[in-house]
Amino acid sequence: MNIVVGITGGIAAYKAVNVIRGLVLAGHDVHVVATEAALRFVGRPTLEAISRNTVNTDLYEAVAEVRHVAIGQAADLIVIAPATANTIAKLATGLADDLLGNTVLASRAPLVIAPAMHTEMWQNPATVANIALLRSRGVHLVGPVSGQLTGTDSGVGRMAEPDDIVAHALAVASGASTRIRDLEGRRVLVTAGGTREPLDPVRFIGNRSSGRQGVALAEAARDRGAAVTLIAAHVEVPLPTEIDVIRVETTEQLLQATSAEAARSDLTIMAAAVADYRPVEVAEGKIKKIHAGERLTLELVQNPDILATISALPRDGRLIVGFAAETASDREALLELGRAKVARKGCDYLVVNEVGWTTGFATEGNAVTVLDASGAIVFEASGSKTSVADDILGVFAAALSGAQ
Ligand code: CTP
Repeated sequence: MNIVVGITGGIAAYKAVNVIRGLVLAGHDVHVVATEAALRFVGRPTLEAISRNTVNTDLYEAVAEVRHVAIGQAADLIVIAPATANTIAKLATGLADDLLGNTVLASRAPLVIAPAMHTEMWQNPATVANIALLRSRGVHLVGPVSGQLTGTDSGVGRMAEPDDIVAHALAVASGASTRIRDLEGRRVLVTAGGTREPLDPVRFIGNRSSGRQGVALAEAARDRGAAVTLIAAHVEVPLPTEIDVIRVETTEQLLQATSAEAARSDLTIMAAAVADYRPVEVAEGKIKKIHAGERLTLELVQNPDILATISALPRDGRLIVGFAAETASDREALLELGRAKVARKGCDYLVVNEVGWTTGFATEGNAVTVLDASGAIVFEASGSKTSVADDILGVFAAALSGAQ
């Protein structure tokens, strides 16, 4: 394959050398397009020696060969690692003020980017919006991950490891971004949808959950090679194929099914929207309206907390993940709610759903932050529910294999 590796001006540029090396060793013809800024971080001779090809930087070199479009046209795959916030902004706008911008615009090849920047820049609404836009156009992201950044700080924004970038890029090029089989041999349990608590034979207390995110998680886990069981409460989307499905109605039924299945699952993801209360009594017959204008009082009793229940059991390397859709006045308040919840539930990870933030892009797709048991941010993802599901499964697959 003819692969273009774009390198932009961030300190992680030195790690791009290992990305190039991985692709060359996998038998590919690698052409480096580096920005001027990238060459301040890593030397041209290094890049030429490792890629075994001339490094291209200048828009006005080899003009007779129409190089500004030729490199992009010939590429089967473009990988930009690291992709700085500035480059991401340029890609989102379609700017072509350097050779890399021209190469990307002139290419129909899949584009994989590995963002690398400080946490504040990654979380800036401008970057968040640019990333959402790039995703909606089919650009593939690998990382960023959480970890040590340049200097003494750490957080989300660190470039994904070169081996992961190579694996992801090659999977994308083979038309199989979701065919990364990192859950092969694992059992994954996903709960989805909203539970319903009957009041009488014809009525129930329920919630608005569609089950879409849970179903997307089950499908993504299946595509990553896992044996998947989906416990579906009320779900408004078609149920996936090649997945064992257990249907439940009430929280009590969900508790029974989940307790049994979680004990034999490597990864349990509680994406179900669980009714916190149920009526003290369920009427045998339909509750009748007797007098005009009368009031009806329902007495409710709290349901068991399934996530807390299964998290309290010994789990021997198995992972348990909760979901929390919260509304809060700002991001910090939302994360505080998430941190309190992960501590209360005792699960390994909590996926905090950012829907409801006042960021403009929130309406374009789903955005989540993954907290670990200590409340630290380990991952952030945004985009369609399918891409978010796939991205966060990558985190849990890595955690299961002890890589994180
Ligand atoms: N959950 C559960 N059992 C319950 C309630 C919730 O297992 N009775 C799980 C959900 O499936 C989800 C996580 O706990 O994974 C968080 O759900 P949420 O409704 O946000 O938690 P609550 O404990 O109900 O907190 P809140 O007071 O914010 O509603």
